[in-house]
Amino acid sequence: MHNLINSINRLKKERQAIILAHNYEPPEIQDIADITGDSLGLSVDAARLDNPVIVFCGVRFMAESAAILAPEKKVILPRLECGCGLADMADANALRKMRQEKPRAVVVTYVNSSAEVKAESDICCTSGNAVNVIRSIPDDQEIIFVPDRNLGAYVQEQTGRRMTLWDGACPIHDAIQAADILKAKKAHPKALLIVHPECRPEVTKHADGVCSTGGMFDFVEKAKTKEFIVATEEGMIYPLRNAHPDWIFHTVSENAMICPDMKLISLQDIHKALENLEPIIRVEKETADRARLALERMLAIPRN
Ligand code: 13P
Repeated sequence: MHNLINSINRLKKERQAIILAHNYEPPEIQDIADITGDSLGLSVDAARLDNPVIVFCGVRFMAESAAILAPEKKVILPRLECGCGLADMADANALRKMRQEKPRAVVVTYVNSSAEVKAESDICCTSGNAVNVIRSIPDDQEIIFVPDRNLGAYVQEQTGRRMTLWDGACPIHDAIQAADILKAKKAHPKALLIVHPECRPEVTKHADGVCSTGGMFDFVEKAKTKEFIVATEEGMIYPLRNAHPDWIFHTVSENAMICPDMKLISLQDIHKALENLEPIIRVEKETADRARLALERMLAIPRN
């Protein structure tokens, strides 16, 4: 293990590579990463970093966003099969059809989507800026929100805007029920409940804070307690405990919220990726140019 880590660090230097990892990645991957963060933070980093090689430890749509924002860099996803069940729920043809039916609507697309879907969109958002993205759109403008109906419902509730919601959801977050939350609250009556906005409205309504994974760090720091129930993918518990070793972080229920795609990349995969400089994520130029516009409009808007 020690040798493998040394070898990764040596190759990283030789290749002038940087390793980015999402907050849901396994502990050993977060530990070897140069930067960890949420979807918004990692997109911003991909665009601003000078390194010619980015090893992206996350899922495909995240690496695609990095490749779109930094077309001159090699963006490597160590395991190409790291997908996203939510991103798979929207396709570009169906979105084009919806646009034809509502030609005046602005299309706001959550970054958990393919490059082709982003290319059909006017502006992207993440869970960290979705409320502000919607607030940036004139009040009388019709909006189509793609592909997460739960995040869409949360943003509607926060902004008072009516939107046409695509019928998609993250299979992991959508599976959590209000009953699971009430059980966890009963088991930990002193804990504050933090919920990711990909959860159902009947779950977010019980939350003390609704935040992106990055926003969860800010929430716990400002809170007046040191005990929390965290309703998101269980990988998030590790960086929270790292940041606050003496505080208590509970999952909603044991093994209930695990995204298999976020657990695929191993240290061996990272080593191989750095050695061979592949698999590279490539997005066809015309698609990337259109998707970049939607991502750059989003990056101009501050976090919620
Ligand atoms: P964050 O942007 O909050 O990190 O969320 C990413 C994600 O895919 C949640 O399922």
